[in-house]
Amino acid sequence: MREVRAPALALRGIRRVYGVGPVAVRALDGVDLELAPGEFVSVEGPSGCGKTTLLNLLGLLDQPTDGSLEWNGRPVGRLPERERARRRLTGVGFIFQRFYLLPTLTAEENIELPMRGARLPAPVRAARTKELLAAVGLADRARSKPHQLSGGEEQRVAIARALANEPGLLLADEPTGELDRANTESVLDLLVDAQRRTGATVVLVTHNPAVARRAHRHLTMADGRIVADTREA
Ligand SMILES: Nc1ncnc2c1ncn2[C@@H]1O[C@H](COP(=O)(O)OP(=O)(O)O)[C@@H](O)[C@H]1O
Ligand SMILES: [Mg+2]
Repeated sequence: MREVRAPALALRGIRRVYGVGPVAVRALDGVDLELAPGEFVSVEGPSGCGKTTLLNLLGLLDQPTDGSLEWNGRPVGRLPERERARRRLTGVGFIFQRFYLLPTLTAEENIELPMRGARLPAPVRAARTKELLAAVGLADRARSKPHQLSGGEEQRVAIARALANEPGLLLADEPTGELDRANTESVLDLLVDAQRRTGATVVLVTHNPAVARRAHRHLTMADGRIVADTREA
């Protein structure tokens, strides 16, 4: 895993409202946040408080209703979808609770997919896929399809896929929510290791305080706001 350029992220007065009129939901209701490059941040809070909405905005999957979102001092909140897609592909790695591997592709094909999207040459893709499979401890499962893997193995493939284009920002949305304790630990070890080795910024959403403890900075959300922001001494 090579070093990456992690973006400094700034959110100011961010609101995200779903729907209009009486059914409108204020998923984010005034979020101000700055993340320094290379920070490892946990986000906790009850279901429905806006954690996934925040992650989607940070990773340019979604756009704010109000407020500004900057990467390295440049506004990115309202870029056209095409430009956001380009930046997501090369700049952001997403890891989800339910893995979202493509079921018809093998582990190595899943990992290779974002690199195809980024048009990396075949030899580079092959070398990097091999390296990533080894890094997540699955060198011998390259040809396995997702249904042939355990949940923990699927999530390790998903982490390798998230790292494929060497993103500066890793966003994990309850990545250990469906895993047992041993697999939770190994997935967290991989995230910590990726952060240390590449210098990427990691934002980790979790319900589990033991998982959050692996981060260096801890955000707590409630009702669409950040209500606590603490750093390890
Ligand atoms: N696409 C959507 N359309 C309408 N409401 C949504 C949508 N996505 C999320 N919400 C609502 O926004 C609020 C925040 O959701 P979410 O960010 O998913 O919370 P969390 O991840 O903390 O559980 C919730 O009330 C949820 O029901
Ligand atoms: Mg969520």
